[in-house]
Amino acid sequence: MSSQPEVVVGEPKVRIDGRLKVTGKAPYAADHGHEHGIENMAYAAIVDATIGRGRITGIDTSTAEAHEGVLGVVSHENAPKLPYRENAGSNNLPGERIRVFQNDRVLFFGHPIAVVVAETLEAAQHGARLVEVTYDEESPTTELEDGTPDEPTNYSRGDVEAALADAPVRLDLTYNLSRNHHNPMEPHATIARWEDDKLTVWDKTQWVGDGTQVELAAVFGLAQDDVRVLSPYVGGAFGSGLRTWPNTVIAAVAAREVGRPVKLVLARRQMYFNTGFRPAYRYQLTVGADRDGRLLATDHVVRAETSSYETFSEAVLSAGQMKYSTPNVRQDYRTVPLDVNTPIWMRGPGAATGDHVIETAMDELAYEVGIDPIELRRRNEPTEDESSGLPFSTRRLLECYDVGAREFGWSRRNPEPASTRDGDWQVGIGMASALYHTAAAPARARVRLRIDGTALVESATSDMGPGTYTSMTQVAADALGLTLDDVDFRLGDSAMPATPPHGGSMTMASVGSAVQNGADKVRREAINLAVNDAASPLHGADADDIVVRRGRLHVRNDASRGETYRALMARNGRTRIQATGLFSPREEATKSAWAYGAVFAEVGVDAQLGLVRVRRMLGVYDAARIINPRLAESQALGGMVGGIGKALLEHTVTDHRDGRIVNANMADYLVPVNADVPDLKAIYLGGRDDYPDPIGVKGLGEVVICGVAPAIANAVFHATGRRVRDLPITIDSLL
Ligand code: MOS
Repeated sequence: MSSQPEVVVGEPKVRIDGRLKVTGKAPYAADHGHEHGIENMAYAAIVDATIGRGRITGIDTSTAEAHEGVLGVVSHENAPKLPYRENAGSNNLPGERIRVFQNDRVLFFGHPIAVVVAETLEAAQHGARLVEVTYDEESPTTELEDGTPDEPTNYSRGDVEAALADAPVRLDLTYNLSRNHHNPMEPHATIARWEDDKLTVWDKTQWVGDGTQVELAAVFGLAQDDVRVLSPYVGGAFGSGLRTWPNTVIAAVAAREVGRPVKLVLARRQMYFNTGFRPAYRYQLTVGADRDGRLLATDHVVRAETSSYETFSEAVLSAGQMKYSTPNVRQDYRTVPLDVNTPIWMRGPGAATGDHVIETAMDELAYEVGIDPIELRRRNEPTEDESSGLPFSTRRLLECYDVGAREFGWSRRNPEPASTRDGDWQVGIGMASALYHTAAAPARARVRLRIDGTALVESATSDMGPGTYTSMTQVAADALGLTLDDVDFRLGDSAMPATPPHGGSMTMASVGSAVQNGADKVRREAINLAVNDAASPLHGADADDIVVRRGRLHVRNDASRGETYRALMARNGRTRIQATGLFSPREEATKSAWAYGAVFAEVGVDAQLGLVRVRRMLGVYDAARIINPRLAESQALGGMVGGIGKALLEHTVTDHRDGRIVNANMADYLVPVNADVPDLKAIYLGGRDDYPDPIGVKGLGEVVICGVAPAIANAVFHATGRRVRDLPITIDSLL
């Protein structure tokens, strides 16, 4: 079959939904209403537990129920018993998920214990304050070091003890990495509507189909098809939408109880204990190396918080297993159950944490042995994935170092720490590498060429910001031979063909490949129709020799011989040509596929005040093929901003006396704002990787945050000579 000319793939197209978004016309979950057929909506507000652990002994709802406009209050005292079937999907972490209003237990501070439904939002919120709850209070355990660790996940190769005992250089490092919250701009929100036993929700989610739809069916004991989940726009998520949280179920419970559609939007404060978070870690790393900086052994003891009722773990160990050549590795990773809500994946899950530890340790080793940090990394570059024995599909990390060092001016750096001043500022430059696993999962997309020669493409994926609408339109347009304007790509509806979660950097690889496959099938069918149609100018031509441009099929080397899709379909009485595109990743890995990056940061540290300012930053990435450079750059800049937050600002603070999160708001939980973000630059090496997926991409949404915090931490050391191993790096740690 002919390959299509590449026209819009690889072009820096602007977001096709950009105008809708900036004019406020893109409907996010809570924006749906009358114009979407939702009538007679009621509003809900959740009542949160004000103890960190214990039992509810009484709930007095009489004052709330008497309040004007309040339609009802639901708690465990009057809630329907819900089936809560097992769910093999994304909501099934080991343990027992929260069953909304099914018992009197309070598992953490903020645990949702009741919902007030009212005619107005104001009445619901006021009603929630009028619910009086009494408790039998127990003392919560919320500090990592106070909990009892679970059984370990272990990994080992070689003989770490012997290698460490003989190592000429040894570093014993302990890192305390704080908890982070996703804090997307759009809070989690749901509108739930029942029609008989069929449930429709407009919900903020990264996974309408096998995520939210399947979970709601499981909770309410419904057939999957009796639940429809709509999520056309997602205002950021970073992983917070990868699971169905209690608020979504509560909205559906409330709607069923009052017999009306119900809207439930979480307050910003409630985002801190209703949805998940990046767990806090204590990571102890022992490094053994020779005097030339070659790693001999690493020993990893990792502790991470999880909830008392579920075990959340993530891929924090990978970097230590395969990033650098290391003959002896031992890892002991234990989750620690605490009286907190369950953590969840957050951008660069596991990897960003592992990279921080490994990359700052490599920096320490570089200074210890007196070798340039980039040269040290080169000396430890592996020739294969030492954790699996597999060859790398593509690994262009050394090229990332070369390009980054050249573009950032690394050679002009004085290697001596605390050697550069700019007025009151101590100036330092640091770097770190990044990696993220290239994943893909089965995906489908329906492609329909319509009688007017335009196409409708549908797939139940999500666009939480990376530009899925745009990049998928580009892939479909080139494969169909249409302009961008002639392709209508839709997503965010569980009735559309199934996809993996919009996460794990696998959407482009998985959904993009399915879109291309479906579009290829449609184009092929049209071409076959033409070459077999005696009335077509293409009759008898070799199908492999036909391409489609701007909706017109023609012989590759003779554009004059051809006809449009429209003419072909009209003559043949076809109202549509339709196909379902499929993608399945290979079943058994034969190569080790990762996206890579090298991140460079220059910081200034105020010598008197300890204030850290990032002055400039560069990321160089090996993410293989780039479908849209503008969107890819935007992802990289966003990753860098997130990394600045992780390095210097973000820290969820808990009062361990009662388990309360004390900075559950955007005034006290600090994220980078414009003044914290300097000129950032991103370079993608480009190229292709044909191993992971047919469209040649490796995924880039997560690798772009992974090396950022360690590059900043290493720059802070270079600026000041002070090594801060905890995150975030605070002013007091530098004074
Ligand atoms: Mo990403 S943490 O997989 O949304």
